Amino acid sequence: MPRSKNVLIVGSGGREHALAWKLTRDGARVFVAPGNAGTAHEATNLPISPTDSAAVLQAVKQHEIDLVVVGPEAPLVSGLVDKLTEAGVRAFGPSGEAAQLEGSKIFCKKLLHTNDIPTATYRQFNSLDKAREFLESREDEPVVVKADGLAAGKGVFVCSNREEALDAIGQLQRDPQFRDAASGVLIEERLDGVEVSVIAITDGRTIVTLPPLQDHKAALDGDRGPNTGGMGAFCPAPFVTQSLMTEIEEQILVPTVHGMRRRRTPFHGILYAGLMLTSQGPKVLEFNVRFGDPECQALCIRLESSLLELLDAAVDRRLHEVPPPSWKSGASVTVVMASEGYPGTVEKGHAIRGLEEARQLENVVVFHAATSTNPDQPGAILAAGGRVLGVTAHAESLARAKLKAYEGVKEIRWRGAWCRKDIADKGLRHEHEQVVAESAELSSSPPEGTA
Ligand code: AMP
Ligand code: GLY
Repeated sequence: MPRSKNVLIVGSGGREHALAWKLTRDGARVFVAPGNAGTAHEATNLPISPTDSAAVLQAVKQHEIDLVVVGPEAPLVSGLVDKLTEAGVRAFGPSGEAAQLEGSKIFCKKLLHTNDIPTATYRQFNSLDKAREFLESREDEPVVVKADGLAAGKGVFVCSNREEALDAIGQLQRDPQFRDAASGVLIEERLDGVEVSVIAITDGRTIVTLPPLQDHKAALDGDRGPNTGGMGAFCPAPFVTQSLMTEIEEQILVPTVHGMRRRRTPFHGILYAGLMLTSQGPKVLEFNVRFGDPECQALCIRLESSLLELLDAAVDRRLHEVPPPSWKSGASVTVVMASEGYPGTVEKGHAIRGLEEARQLENVVVFHAATSTNPDQPGAILAAGGRVLGVTAHAESLARAKLKAYEGVKEIRWRGAWCRKDIADKGLRHEHEQVVAESAELSSSPPEGTA
């Protein structure tokens, strides 16, 4: 089977470091545009902005790249894959039109509705004033207010009552990014349940589903505080049984891929379903059109077989030929270490200590998300943003993977560094409850052979 030799990863976060780490181990020579101090360790960084398609094309020629993997949503939505494909370059990721599945919440809702895919009920408004009138005229119920368009998690407000929802509209009205609501606003039914992420690789026909994960979107322990890009993840999420996974594939992933093909915007790349497991079954909260960050880190450390082979096959539309991926048994946990102030304004430039000590730990990988170097401080790695590192560990159980990841975290420090302390706890509680339920069932059934 043809294998790409020179791979260019577009992006600079923890996801891109994890992809560079894995693809290097799969035998590729990897370039990252622009990358970070961690990717520089695995690969060659190129000083290129992810949305500068002309510079990406030039780098493809210069370095004889035979596969481009686009990490973040912004270049996908702005059509980087279309430009590369038109120029004859093999690129992994959806077209700009297909990326609307993440780029526009209204596009996504319409696709879900047309294809009878379970999701929260919603109303769409083309102005914030109309959304406010609607909220004032209806029953006081929990809702979610969502601004259309890419907003890096900022445009979504989960509200317990009308007062909170009206406050969310007020916040959108005060924010220059949303004030005009040019592309619209949604008011959604608020769903209750356990949230999980199911990520699949697709070539537009065949779907390869990866093990389920759980992200931690809230900034603080116990899921309190503001929404973030994700403060940690674990894999697999034990809430998703094999039969539930089959239901998710049949009722959500397959109809989405078919629906996209039917409307002549075939979807290729990563289809990431953010799901709520409700009492009525799994429902779609959102789709992303790329690997999640930090979910990608927790997946890559467990993936035993070649990721390169999967990405190559997806780009060449022959995913059906590739054997299913194999995974290390046990579980993985990623704990994000962030700078003081995140998800608000952060101070950058503090030197990170303890990376070498953490690297010595077995089955621990420290993926860099926002790090840099400075010629004036030779050898130093500096915190360069909000989410700085994703300390990732693999072990034979979720409990041990959590312990290992926090062992890594303990080695690392910089001024103002912090992390959530409860990553994976919901999974551990669930495992514990399962054991209690199973043993109760065992003790209530009579031993075999008794009358
Ligand atoms: P989104 O960007 O649409 O995924 O929303 C961000 C987060 O808001 C999700 O991860 C959920 O935690 C929450 N959320 C979004 N939609 C809903 C909903 N309809 N009901 C409950 N929570 C939601
Ligand atoms: N961790 C959630 C995301 O990548 O959108």
